[in-house]
Amino acid sequence: MFGPQGTDFMALSKQRHTVRKYSQKPVEQEKVKKILEAGRWAPTAVNAQPQRILVLNTPEELQKVKDFCTFGWKKKYVDLAEESDTVDHKHIVIYYGAPLVLMVCYDKKACWKHPESGTESGQTDAVIVATHIMLEAVSLGLGTAWISYFDEQKARKSLHLPDDWQPVCMLYIGYPADDYQPNQKLSIRRKPLTETCFFDKVG
Ligand SMILES: Cc1cc2nc3c(=O)[nH]c(=O)nc-3n(C[C@H](O)[C@H](O)[C@H](O)COP(=O)(O)O)c2cc1C
Repeated sequence: MFGPQGTDFMALSKQRHTVRKYSQKPVEQEKVKKILEAGRWAPTAVNAQPQRILVLNTPEELQKVKDFCTFGWKKKYVDLAEESDTVDHKHIVIYYGAPLVLMVCYDKKACWKHPESGTESGQTDAVIVATHIMLEAVSLGLGTAWISYFDEQKARKSLHLPDDWQPVCMLYIGYPADDYQPNQKLSIRRKPLTETCFFDKVG
């Protein structure tokens, strides 16, 4: 028998939805440790483990996140992310009140590079690590949001990221707010397998 038995991964996959409204209850330290540990066991190319994860959960650090996730008001994103804390039509703030934010980066000097093409594996490695973390968080009863829409240059500056670290994504983590609902436009629909999987030949 290989691996732990009885973990209902399908149920976990289907239960997870992006949470865009968080309660202010802090994430317990024990759970923070567990989700980081799940990331530690993720596979990476040649096991180089180039991920570098910044854990942000103080009011000062979270204010920085809010600052580099604030953009000019864009109707498209306001409509898509109905929950974004946008009231004044001047800014869209993609922060959602998350009490814990992980900035997931990789170290360009530490990751595997394809010997012929030179392509770095760090982005892929970091995405797999982040996915492990996200699903462990969900299994612990936490809500998560994967965030790509942030100002990288502002983030680099305010978090003092080393030049060799490439930010890949952020994970917002916390308990969903009492009135949280999965976003009706973004969360529910999945394409049928016939549109995304091809047996033997394309088309
Ligand atoms: C690579 C990636 C980037 C994403 N970036 C954002 C983002 O910047 N802001 C946001 O609110 N949601 C973001 N999301 C969440 C997606 O919109 C969401 O996963 C998708 O609509 C499916 O909904 P579900 O996660 O509830 O199943 C991102 C998800 C992925 C995988």
